Amino acid sequence: MKHYLVTGGAGFIGSNFVKYILKKHTDIQIIVLDDLTYAGNLGTISKDLEDSRLEFIKGNIVSHETVESVFEKYSIDTVVNFAAESHVDRSIENPQLFLETNILGTQNLLDTARKFWAVEKDSTGYPVYQKGVKFLQVSTDEVYGSLGETGYFTETTPLNPRSPYSASKAAADFIVLAYAETYKMPVNITRCSNNYGPYHFPEKLIPLIIKNILEGKKLPVYGDGSNVRDWLYVEDHCNAIDLVVTRGRLGQVYNVGGHNEMKNIDIVRLTISTVRRLLEENPEYKKALKTDIININDNLITFVKDRLGHDRRYAIDPAKISSELGWTPETRFADGIVKTIRWYLENQNWVDEVTSGDYQKYYRQMYGSE
Ligand code: NAD
Ligand code: DAU
Repeated sequence: MKHYLVTGGAGFIGSNFVKYILKKHTDIQIIVLDDLTYAGNLGTISKDLEDSRLEFIKGNIVSHETVESVFEKYSIDTVVNFAAESHVDRSIENPQLFLETNILGTQNLLDTARKFWAVEKDSTGYPVYQKGVKFLQVSTDEVYGSLGETGYFTETTPLNPRSPYSASKAAADFIVLAYAETYKMPVNITRCSNNYGPYHFPEKLIPLIIKNILEGKKLPVYGDGSNVRDWLYVEDHCNAIDLVVTRGRLGQVYNVGGHNEMKNIDIVRLTISTVRRLLEENPEYKKALKTDIININDNLITFVKDRLGHDRRYAIDPAKISSELGWTPETRFADGIVKTIRWYLENQNWVDEVTSGDYQKYYRQMYGSE
């Protein structure tokens, strides 16, 4: 049995990864460490917790005591670090929390892993680690900065982060690489483009637009809507991380993206027309509507003040992970967006819960206190 510490496993991608691993593998025990911030919701994985291969611990990755106690209690051999403050707009409002969680949290996890995994020193003084251990840092394409009309980010593109969020993620990447160099720690970094799919917190573009449509609210598009993001279905990202954990060459960075660039305004228009079509096709979905005014069209779009320092375009070149590990995305955007919108139409309880601030409800139910 392998023992994975999955931090941030109650958030969007982390919870999808937990579900993916439980379904795909039988020989992996997962310990989720998550502080259940506004973005983490234990309800998201409460069904999965019925499986004895999954355990949940509420705690902060920045705390030495917490992380040490997890390593002490479980024979952790793999860390997959999803835990982070992840929203660019919030990082513009409150950078400090991003630096604490994303940088110091990563460093604390690395230090603890180093302490527990190093079994001896070689003749030159470098640590020698237990067999089969690995630290995987889940990073982002935003560390590369912003592209013009053409070109792609490759793993050798110089890092040029431009928001407090991406600067904190880039700092964490540098620390991970520094630990690989200085202490010879067995690490990988994945840098992925924009994910979409189930359990995406409705502050991010796609789930926010769906939520606002259902509430009959305006749909805020920053600037002129022509900024470009490169969208990837979350399950394809989970598959990529699984491959890198199991087969990635130590010390390597892998970009993950599905060649699916779209302008924000086109994403918003497509979301509007897809929600409208699905509501027309299936009267059951009308239960998801929170308003009587059903006028779902492009008039809902409102162009608002641009994000400060708004990155223009992201686009990933995934050639390395494709050629080395055989990864290819399975979900075409046309199918993924319909699956995603259907999921939101069928899971308004989840949306209500995470947006009501009652995201710790399941924690109280299962563990009795905060
Ligand atoms: P999310 O905000 O949905 O989830 C983050 C999770 O981390 C939450 O469950 C939260 O409770 C937990 N958390 C936050 N601070 C913590 C702390 N101090 N200690 C323990 N747990 C803490 O984020 P996401 O979109 O799922 O992103 C996961 C990771 O993937 C992040 O590292 C992010 O930078 C990276 N990433 C995200 C995307 C994307 O499109 N969402 C793309 C590329 C990379
Ligand atoms: O590229 C990977 C990154 O993708 C991850 O590292 C981040 O954690 C994740 O949040 C995401 O960052 P973005 O800033 O690209 O995602 P967001 O959904 O916030 O915005 C997507 C685009 O849509 C961006 O150009 C800003 C725009 N936008 C966003 C919101 C919330 C709008 O126009 N209106 C909105 O209301």
